[in-house]
Amino acid sequence: MKYKAYLIEENDGSYNGSIKELEMADIQPGNVIVKVHYSSLNYKDALAATGVKGVASSYPFVPGIDVAGEILKSSNENFKIGDKVIATGYKLGMSVHGGFGQLVQVPEKWVIPLPNNLTLLNSMSLGTAGLTAGACVKKILDAGPSLNNPILVSGATGGVGSVAVNLLSKLDFEVHAITGKPNETEILKKMGASEIIDRHKFMADPVKPLDKAIYSAGVDTVGGDILSKMLSMILSHGSVACCGNVGGMKFTSSVFPFILRGVSLIGIDSAESDINFKKQIWNLFSENWSLNLDDYSKVVQLDDIESEITAILNGEQIGRVVIKHGD
Ligand SMILES: NC(=O)c1ccc[n+]([C@@H]2O[C@H](COP(=O)([O-])OP(=O)(O)OC[C@H]3O[C@@H](n4cnc5c(N)ncnc54)[C@H](OP(=O)(O)O)[C@@H]3O)[C@@H](O)[C@H]2O)c1
Repeated sequence: MKYKAYLIEENDGSYNGSIKELEMADIQPGNVIVKVHYSSLNYKDALAATGVKGVASSYPFVPGIDVAGEILKSSNENFKIGDKVIATGYKLGMSVHGGFGQLVQVPEKWVIPLPNNLTLLNSMSLGTAGLTAGACVKKILDAGPSLNNPILVSGATGGVGSVAVNLLSKLDFEVHAITGKPNETEILKKMGASEIIDRHKFMADPVKPLDKAIYSAGVDTVGGDILSKMLSMILSHGSVACCGNVGGMKFTSSVFPFILRGVSLIGIDSAESDINFKKQIWNLFSENWSLNLDDYSKVVQLDDIESEITAILNGEQIGRVVIKHGD
């Protein structure tokens, strides 16, 4: 079975992508083959597409950690031909060819039936970014503090950040959004942020061991010094969900937020989360957490992916990029 995919190849240490025709291997026991209708672009996919070490296990490789589509072949009873499904994370787009191709072959245990009320398109408007934002919000809510004060979101115009802003606002929280794009006030307000904080102004004063406590909780998608500062500004027994590193891998903190305010730092790894946890988040998005992300996601064809990869690596994307396979 032949299919088209955006294949990244390595040549003398440089990595280039182009659309190639590939051959799908015969179906293996325990696997399904999915005809991908939509995929999405996540920050991790852009790293895989540009050869950044530690993401794709080897090249040539097809990135894409998200797929939504229909079962084309199934080796087991859990899925039948034509079932609409979603698969995100695990080794998809890491060591198993991913959603930048028209077909994927994955273990059935990675696959979730498309929940009621979600279309394949809006499942990929969420994608891993949405699942991650959902996991951050779920864990902050589960931590159970009083959430009467604002919640701070960093990287607010990005994929994870924008879904977090939309979701927290839908859940009636006051959302303050940190952004490096202060000109995008209007769109952040439309997402539901009540206050827009310029990232550079936020970081203008050095990080203190403890700062004025303003926020009930935080969703940090960027790491580095912003995470340090966020931790110092969380109210007693609040929490920060940490999921990203576009702003830096390392951060410093005093122990004071933890021992004087009882603040919790919650790690999020949505890719490797238990499939039942993923199902729980997808079901929330299909019901009480349903979001209309049409204004914050653009749909592109695979031919257009290169410029979208450059934009996400430069921190220039706003919201989500969905990849449509076929017309
Ligand atoms: N742990 C997990 O399970 C998980 C899952 C998905 C993603 N992630 C991680 O989460 C992060 C965000 O992913 P994404 O897909 O949302 O990416 P994205 O769409 O590119 O969003 C990142 C946003 O961060 C802000 N930003 C960019 N460069 C920055 C810098 N140098 N310092 C501070 N802020 C910066 C920008 O927003 P503003 O201009 O609005 O500030 C940018 O739009 C990535 O590190 C990704 O690897 C983790």
